[in-house]
Formats: sequence, structure tokens, C-alpha cells
Amino acid sequence: MSLKIVDHPLAQHLLSHLRDASTPPAQFRQFSRLLSQLLIIEATRELPTRPAPVQTPLEETQGHYLGQSLAVVPVLRAGLAMLEPALDLFPEVGVGYIGLERNHDTAIAHSYYCKLPNLVGKLTLCVDPMLATGGSASQAISLLKAHGADQLRMVSVIASPEGAARLQEAHPDVDVWVAGLDRGLNDKKYIVPGLGDFGDRLYGTL
Ligand code: PRP
Ligand code: URA
Repeated sequence: MSLKIVDHPLAQHLLSHLRDASTPPAQFRQFSRLLSQLLIIEATRELPTRPAPVQTPLEETQGHYLGQSLAVVPVLRAGLAMLEPALDLFPEVGVGYIGLERNHDTAIAHSYYCKLPNLVGKLTLCVDPMLATGGSASQAISLLKAHGADQLRMVSVIASPEGAARLQEAHPDVDVWVAGLDRGLNDKKYIVPGLGDFGDRLYGTL
């Protein structure tokens, strides 16, 4: 596995606004939408293209069209923040959903929903903004593999070293894109410095 930190100045600017405890949900949604677009663009940087001629108003030239089918699978609920940005960039993408929720006391995620399209032969982007203990991401990727996903990438906003290490151990074949790699986890298994509970900040729940 390789962990790629997207250090584009705009990504770091948006991440800083997401971290800011005074950012209200409406702005949090807007910043996460823009940051997700940047992360997804980076995670698809090496997509193959298919050459084909294209007629401009002036002459024919060589065009390059996307040559790889994609799927995007958000991990509910916070991963929903990253779905629309993916659809804006890749309207033809297949969409699946995995519902996982961490127990507040144990931080162990339990699965409550799974609905997936055909993933065979597609590049599947699993999107979940927080890679904390890595338990949710590891479970999600196991579900995707069991469903036939054979090319997988993980896109998150922030990872902890513990989460990245756990994902590397469970799924060394899956590369990860993030905007930040933080110091660690607190005693409640929240990422520090982090940004708090992404789902709560996105939807204003407490
Ligand atoms: C958050 C986040 C990840 C998970 C990360 O979801 O969106 O899915 O925690 O933690 P982990 O790496 O320790 O598993 P949460 O369970 O809080 O559910 P929510 O998205 O519904 O708020
Ligand atoms: N889930 C979150 O939303 N934030 C964390 O820091 C850890 C898990």
C-alpha cells in the first residue's frame, strides 16, 4: 500500500477550514465537497485513456477519452459527503453503498447496510473521510473484495498512522489518498488533531 498525501495548497486550505471548530455545517459541506473533488482527481490521475479522433471546428485531431470504468462506494454516513463530488467528475460511475457505524464505547464498526453494483473490472473508489482505527475502511474493503472488486483505491480526508498501518496490514494492495496524516488517536479513538466527528459536523448532529 502507498499513502499519498495531497499537498496541493488548495487542499490544505480546505482541510484547515474543515478542522476549524467554528465552521458551520453548511460551509463544512461546501469545503468537503471541494476537497473531495481534489482528492478524487488525484486518486484517478493515472487512469488509462483511449485515443480516438475528434473533429474540432477547425480540423481533426487526436482525442483522449477515459478508458476505464469506475465505481464509487461511500461508507455511510460521512462518506456521502464524497459521493456527489465523484458523480460531478465521473457521471457514468457505478454507485454502491456500505453502511458502517462505530460503537461509541468500543470504536468497533458494525455493518448495517450493503448494496453494491457489479464491480468486476472496474476501478472502485471506496470513499470515507476519516481513517481512524482503520476498522471501518478495512471492513468496507473486505466487503468490496468479496463482491468482486479487483482494483481498489481508498480516498479519505484524514488518516491516523494507526489507521493507515491497519489498512496496510489488512489490504496491502490498496493505495490510499488523503489530505492529511495526523498525529494519532485519542482515548476515544478520534483522530488528533483531526476535525472531530465528520458525520456530526456535516449534518449538524451531536
Ligand atoms: C466515522 C467515519 C468512518 C469511521 C472511521 O463513521 O466516517 O467511517 O468513523 O473510524 P475507524 O477508522 O475507527 O473505523 P462513524 O462510525 O462515526 O459513522 P457516521 O459516518 O454514521 O457518523
Ligand atoms: N470518525 C470521525 O468522524 N472522526 C474521527 O476522528 C474518528 C472517527
